Amino acid sequence: MTLAETEVYYDPFDNEIAIDPYPVYQRLRDEAPVYYNEERDFYAFSRYADVERGLSDRETFISGLGSTYEFIQAVKAGAEIPAGLFIFEDPPQHTVHRSLVSRLFTPRRVTSLEPQIRDFCARALDPHIGVGRFDFVRNLGDQMPMRVIGMLLGIPDDDQDSIRDQQRERTDDEETVADIDDFIEHSSRVFSDYIDWRAEHPSDDIMSQLLSAEIQDEKGVTRRLGRDEILTYVSLINGAGTDTTRRLIGWAGKVLAEHPDQRRLLVENPGLISNAVDELLRFEPPSYNVARQAAQDVEVHGRMIPKGSVIMCLPGAANRDERRFADPDAFDVSREVGQIMTFGFGAHFCLGAALARMEGRIALEEVLKRFPDWEVDWDNAEMAITGADLRGWKSLPVFTDRS
Ligand code: HEM
Repeated sequence: MTLAETEVYYDPFDNEIAIDPYPVYQRLRDEAPVYYNEERDFYAFSRYADVERGLSDRETFISGLGSTYEFIQAVKAGAEIPAGLFIFEDPPQHTVHRSLVSRLFTPRRVTSLEPQIRDFCARALDPHIGVGRFDFVRNLGDQMPMRVIGMLLGIPDDDQDSIRDQQRERTDDEETVADIDDFIEHSSRVFSDYIDWRAEHPSDDIMSQLLSAEIQDEKGVTRRLGRDEILTYVSLINGAGTDTTRRLIGWAGKVLAEHPDQRRLLVENPGLISNAVDELLRFEPPSYNVARQAAQDVEVHGRMIPKGSVIMCLPGAANRDERRFADPDAFDVSREVGQIMTFGFGAHFCLGAALARMEGRIALEEVLKRFPDWEVDWDNAEMAITGADLRGWKSLPVFTDRS
């Protein structure tokens, strides 16, 4: 039997598939658009139109038990989702909680961070000039997104290093990501002193705004947010905005090394970098799986999905669906990218998308100014697969003076 005759198999925890899932995605889209993995008991949507529906048809596909496979398993085993962790909520709670936080992500606040982010990138990259190598993840991706969250929250520069060290301790321990209590407790440890300090020293950052925000709660009472609620929101912003963006920086290093012609275009025409970030996000999305649960029995492509089933929506498969994108396996920084599934779709669409895109653009601008050419040091590159939801590099060292 040839490979093409075997039944298609997809498991997000299979590292061999995760290294290059695109041949499997192609087969899923063509042969099993509603794929079922019996062992892990999940369905997978791979076509663009189905992923779009999976993420936006909220009557049928819900987030209330979690939106990653591991969290859903944890909740099924009895873990409780804290109120306010709105990425794992449905209406009406999701609408109330999201609107509170979305008010904080104004375009003005996001763009105002640009000089600080650029300055940080310069400080991270300058020491590697003339050295002949640097690591996209260890020297840039590991630090920048965390710093940016710190800037959003208004964490003083002097405290940023200790926060970074505590966070690194945790992200290197990939076993812990599905533990909800740990997720909140960890952020509490990292941010709780800072909340108290900020309460005494209000400024115009997100933390100060959360501290003074007034909400109308479920009982119709207008009140300030409690400390625990603030920690939940901060944990969510921090959890959703660091590992994801870190992965984007790693992918930028890898994909551009493999497409030197496209990289040259960017060096010669930096105005294309913004579009190149979108193309990178389409071509290699850090988001590997976004999960939902079926709220009722539903038939898709003639296959019955029973109520309660876990559905994994695959952004990487949707972004390369030839039903939607012309020549989808070509990496083309000049392409008109259009809507992609990398940041989700519909009501849970990523609140930090504009910020992540800006971080990617600034990082690439600053890298390309200093290092117009590089090759990956494959002997020392290491993939990091954080559970089933993210895909990217733990380490991506490159040689910068091989020309
Ligand atoms: C390349 C970087 C990023 C990627 C790939 C990414 C991806 C995603 C995806 C796929 C979702 C939707 C989850 C779902 O539908 O269940 C999401 C939601 C979210 N993201 Fe991002 N994200 C990124 C960066 C950020 C940043 C920088 C922040 C904040 C600083 C952020 C904050 C959020 C929040 C708060 C949500 C929850 C929205 C909701 O449930 O209503 N993300 N992100």
